[in-house]
Amino acid sequence: MYGRHPVADASRASRAILSNLLARGAPGLYVRLTQETGRGRGAETAESVAQYFTTCFFDYFDQLEVPPEAIEDALRDKHLLEYGPGDVPGVALLMLAHGAARVTCVDRFALSQRSPFQLEVLQCLLDGLDPAARERAAACFVRPDDPASGFRRERLEYRVTRDGLSGLNADVDLIYSRAVLEHVNDLDATFRDMAKALKPGALAVHQVDLKSHGLHRENPLDFLTWPVGLWHWMYAGKGVPNRWRLDRYRQAIENTGLVIRHIESTAEALDEDVAAVAPYLAAPFRGLDKATLRCLGFWLVVTRPAPGDEARAAA
Ligand SMILES: C[S@@+](CC[C@H](N)C(=O)[O-])C[C@H]1O[C@@H](n2cnc3c(N)ncnc32)[C@H](O)[C@@H]1O
Repeated sequence: MYGRHPVADASRASRAILSNLLARGAPGLYVRLTQETGRGRGAETAESVAQYFTTCFFDYFDQLEVPPEAIEDALRDKHLLEYGPGDVPGVALLMLAHGAARVTCVDRFALSQRSPFQLEVLQCLLDGLDPAARERAAACFVRPDDPASGFRRERLEYRVTRDGLSGLNADVDLIYSRAVLEHVNDLDATFRDMAKALKPGALAVHQVDLKSHGLHRENPLDFLTWPVGLWHWMYAGKGVPNRWRLDRYRQAIENTGLVIRHIESTAEALDEDVAAVAPYLAAPFRGLDKATLRCLGFWLVVTRPAPGDEARAAA
C-alpha cells in the first residue's frame, strides 16, 4: 500500500516521474524504447497474435448477440470506429473481410508501424479467411493482397489524434474497443466523442480491463492507494491505467446521454483483498461500495438513443 514503505514509494515515484517526463516530451521515442504493442510483454508469434485478433472479433459479436452466420449481414456497408487498435489493425482487417465498408481506427499513440512482424500478422489473418472474405480483405490494400503496400485510406484509416478522439459526427454504425478505455486520459471526453460519432440507434461495444496491469505490489488493488496527483505525475503521459472504476464509467455514460444495454463482469477481486485495501484507498475510490471495488473488468454495450426511443420505452 502507498504510505506504508515511504522509501520504496519515493524511489518508485521518482523513477516513474522521470520516465513520464520522457513519455510526455517525446511520445514517439518512448513508444519505440518500450516497444509497446498494446498486448503486453509476453512472447508472441504472428500466429498467436492473429488468433488473438480472431478471438476479439468473434467476442464482439457474441456480446452484440449476433450469431456467426449473421455477422456479414450485420456489417454490410457499415462504417466502424475502433479506439486504440494497438500496433496491428487486425480486428479492423477482419471487420472489412466480413463486409464492413470502412473502419476508422483512432489512437492517442502512434503504435502502428508496418514492421515485418506486423505484416506477418496481417498475412496470417488473410491466410485464415475463407475465399470470399479473403477477396474482400485483399481488396483493402493499396496493391491488392499485399499488406506491405498499406491500407487504402477510404477502407481503413489509422489516425493518431490528441487525446485519441475521432471528432466524427453521427457517422458511425458501430464502435468497438478492447483493453482501451481503462487507458484513456480523459474518460468523459472519450464517451462524449463516442456519443457524437455514433448514428442515432447505433451501438458501441467495449471490453474494459480494470486490473493493475502489473502496477500493484502486495494486493491486486493496492495501485488504487497512490494519491491522484502523484499517479498523474508518474504515469499520465504513458497511457497506463487511468484507474477509474465502474462508477465513473456509469457516470460518464449518463453524462453523454448514451444508454447502457448490457454490462457483464469479466473478473472479480477477492473480498479479502478489497477489505485489506479499503483503509488505504486514494480519495476517488474511498467510500466506493464493495461490488464496485471487486469489479476487475467488464464488457459494456451502450447505444445512442434514436429520436423517439424514450417515448417508445415509456409506452
Ligand atoms: C492495451 S492496448 C490494447 C490494444 C488493442 N486494442 C488490443 O486489444 O491489442 C491500449 C491501446 O489504447 C490506446 N490508447 C491509449 N490512450 C488512448 C486514448 N486516449 N484514445 C484512444 N486510444 C488510446 C493505446 O495507444 C493502445 O493502442
